[in-house]
Amino acid sequence: KLTSHNRKPKILVARAIFPEALAKLKASFEVISNQADQVLTPQALQKALGEVEGALVTGSERIDAAALAHAKNLKIVANISVGYNNFDVPAITAAGIMASNTPDVLTDTTADFGFALLMATARRITESERWVRDGKWAQWSIVHNPLGMDLHHSTIGILGMGRIGQGIAKRALGFGMNVIYHNRSRLSVEDEKACGATYVSKEELLRLADHLVLVLPYTAQNHHTIGAPEIALMKPTATLINIARGGIVDDAALAQALQAGKIFAAGLDVFEGEPTVHPELLKCSNIVIAPHIGSGTEKTRRAMVDLAIENLRAALQGKRPPSLINT
Ligand code: DGY
Repeated sequence: KLTSHNRKPKILVARAIFPEALAKLKASFEVISNQADQVLTPQALQKALGEVEGALVTGSERIDAAALAHAKNLKIVANISVGYNNFDVPAITAAGIMASNTPDVLTDTTADFGFALLMATARRITESERWVRDGKWAQWSIVHNPLGMDLHHSTIGILGMGRIGQGIAKRALGFGMNVIYHNRSRLSVEDEKACGATYVSKEELLRLADHLVLVLPYTAQNHHTIGAPEIALMKPTATLINIARGGIVDDAALAQALQAGKIFAAGLDVFEGEPTVHPELLKCSNIVIAPHIGSGTEKTRRAMVDLAIENLRAALQGKRPPSLINT
């Protein structure tokens, strides 16, 4: 008697993805999907991970020992995200499971967004729009309308000089900005040259930057790496842009500083405890708020999903995923 061995491996797609991508997955896999896009409870996530061989997840799903408690057949957790602070990598590795992320495909889109947020913040664009919509624009005025800060020929300070940080630096050169940076490790001479960036200490960065852009990965070590003492070193005319992760900035301290005029303005795409935004931040007019959309163009989100799927397929075929984290 012949036996069929074409059982499709079962996978979890923990959040809504593009329908065409889901349809393609269904051709190769038995799929548990969450097109309703409600973040799974830890219990539901744990249960689903116990049933599958591969999982596509996002930064909203915490993958740790508890989530993996029943994951007997799981081979890979593929994050649809470059940041992977939602992963407890040692726990995933200890469970013999591969972990992957989506680098490179979102670098330029996120650097573009960082610049957009910087420009909107420095030139008070959203505040100006609210001002016009509120009927406050009575006449053109030299002084009585929202006045911003220049980008051109100012100093941009970049904290975290990975791929996205370098992308921001290259864009800043086009604006004639002086680029300084701080990073765990210094770039090579060639890379520094390519983005016209000068390495400084963190303290110098805080003191010298007219515009400070945060682009570093979030780890337990850099929790609140920008808090009240760091903000106190910044110029009162400075802007602070966070496109990295909530938790890197102490949001309560930032709200206090913005309200007290200790710095000029902030542009924030990420928040501690997002999607909740600290109520004191919401009271500040000198802030531009975005809902974690740094990588949010359709083309790039598709590329992120595709790369995550490539990682998952490779792992389930016994191959090395192209962007494996836990080598
Ligand atoms: C990333 O890719 O890290 C984005 O912030 C989305 O999570």
